[in-house]
Amino acid sequence: MEDNKCVSFLQWVLPQLNMRWKGFRKVRRQVCKRIDRRISELGLTGIESYRNYLAEDSKEWIILDQFCRITISRFYRDRLVFDYVSTEVLPVLINGAVERNNAPIRVWSAGCASGEEPYTIALLWHNLIRPKFPNLRLEIIATDIDPILIKRAREACYEQGSFRDLPLAWQTDAFDRQNDLYSLKQPIKEYVHFLNLDIRKKAPSELFHIILCRNLAFTYFDQKLQRSVLERFYTKLETGGVLISGTHEKTPENDIFFARWVENMPIFQKV
Ligand SMILES: C[S@@+](CC[C@H](N)C(=O)[O-])C[C@H]1O[C@@H](n2cnc3c(N)ncnc32)[C@H](O)[C@@H]1O
Repeated sequence: MEDNKCVSFLQWVLPQLNMRWKGFRKVRRQVCKRIDRRISELGLTGIESYRNYLAEDSKEWIILDQFCRITISRFYRDRLVFDYVSTEVLPVLINGAVERNNAPIRVWSAGCASGEEPYTIALLWHNLIRPKFPNLRLEIIATDIDPILIKRAREACYEQGSFRDLPLAWQTDAFDRQNDLYSLKQPIKEYVHFLNLDIRKKAPSELFHIILCRNLAFTYFDQKLQRSVLERFYTKLETGGVLISGTHEKTPENDIFFARWVENMPIFQKV
């Protein structure tokens, strides 16, 4: 499909899915390739006939919604944020946990792709925190809308490209190499419990001290949907807990429920 046709189709379709064009601008080719394939699969002549098809078959919108998922991730993505969390945020949360008789610290990774993000938190805890606080527990719930990604996350086998930002020593310690794949060792896997879940509709049942929602809601969802997801995160956070968004994302700035932890970090505390 020609680029201009793809752009105008996405500009028409995304708002109807409560998504925003701006988030998709750089990744539009991925989405358009999927739509191209779908057009061939349906035996249609082009994007115009696909528009007509959408008008006639409401179920096709569900498939189109699936095409609009961007699944790129890697370990220790935005490493400065993870470093800051381990040196500044976790110590505060740990103090609270110690005061509560070593109650577990609970983390939710919302939109976890193949597990790179929640396993990064697990690695960070295992390597930096656990040696100092052996009696303290970390529980991570990681969710994604895509059941195939959840299956991959549970298997936890990765290609070298996923490790670009992870310290080499952490990779060597925590993964077994099998040909070209690196398989995560069981003790790290055990920190994380994976669930298939759409954050537009649901949240896990527990309350959390940290919620990570990076490179998802605040990039791809429209303002109204961002607001409703933000409210869901608010209700799912313990007071004093933090929401972490992506480095390049703009969360609703004048939000009365959250206060920025510090300038230049996408970390927001429930107040
Ligand atoms: C770009 S990846 C981000 C992965 C990770 N958070 C990171 O920053 O590296 C976005 C993920 O969100 C998932 N996703 C998209 N829409 C979702 C929804 N409504 N509910 C839950 N997950 C969703 C996608 O399947 C994908 O795995």
